[in-house]
Amino acid sequence: MQPEFWHKKWASGQIGFHLPEVNPYLQRHWAVSAAARVLVPLCGKSLDLAWLAGRGHQVLGVELSEKAIEDFFSEYQVQPQISQKGAFKVYRGDAIELWCGDFFALTAADVADCAALYDRAALIALPAPMRERYAAHLQQILPQGVHGLLITLDYDQAQMPGPPFAVGDDEVQRLLSGAWQVPVLEEQDVLGESGKFLQAGVTRLEERVYRVSSR
Ligand SMILES: C[S@@+](CC[C@H](N)C(=O)[O-])C[C@H]1O[C@@H](n2cnc3c(N)ncnc32)[C@H](O)[C@@H]1O
Repeated sequence: MQPEFWHKKWASGQIGFHLPEVNPYLQRHWAVSAAARVLVPLCGKSLDLAWLAGRGHQVLGVELSEKAIEDFFSEYQVQPQISQKGAFKVYRGDAIELWCGDFFALTAADVADCAALYDRAALIALPAPMRERYAAHLQQILPQGVHGLLITLDYDQAQMPGPPFAVGDDEVQRLLSGAWQVPVLEEQDVLGESGKFLQAGVTRLEERVYRVSSR
């Protein structure tokens, strides 16, 4: 996916991926010490960012869309301070920093103090070659001892084009298990509540939640 694809989505308000509530899997399964700074790749304007901050975490979200970031802080009712850090325009408000720019430009120095990772709709937002790059980049930049959650969607990719892309357990294990332990915590059949997928003729849709712990 080229940046332009996402900028158009944000500009036209086609953000069906944005949840109007905090992700229930996050609330159910998050088990990371509040002392950990959390990296949230491809964060959008997710309410999960505020939930994590409310749990006492420092949060570092990375997002291409300036509109998403401005909307987040406006809805969060915090006036962010803005600065430049390398390739990123950094918005900071309370415990939340949202870095506007390309996730793949993030360096190990940028995330040296992150000890947690939260991926909801980041890996599955990317086509297959970019998923390889995403997993490799995470592994390359994150320090040892990172814990967190990964939430994926799985369906027959032949029945609907992404995004969101289907990412099966075999792919998660292939991409991540070299550097991470990725046990499944929960799996839900969510086809019944997914109009877009039903309309496209998708016949199986599973959401899977993984605990991720770096080896
Ligand atoms: C499917 S949305 C998920 C957003 C968020 N995680 C959520 O749960 O609502 C993917 C987001 O990633 C952003 N994005 C896509 N590619 C990116 C990249 N290379 N670097 C940073 N953000 C990116 C898009 O603008 C979009 O907001």
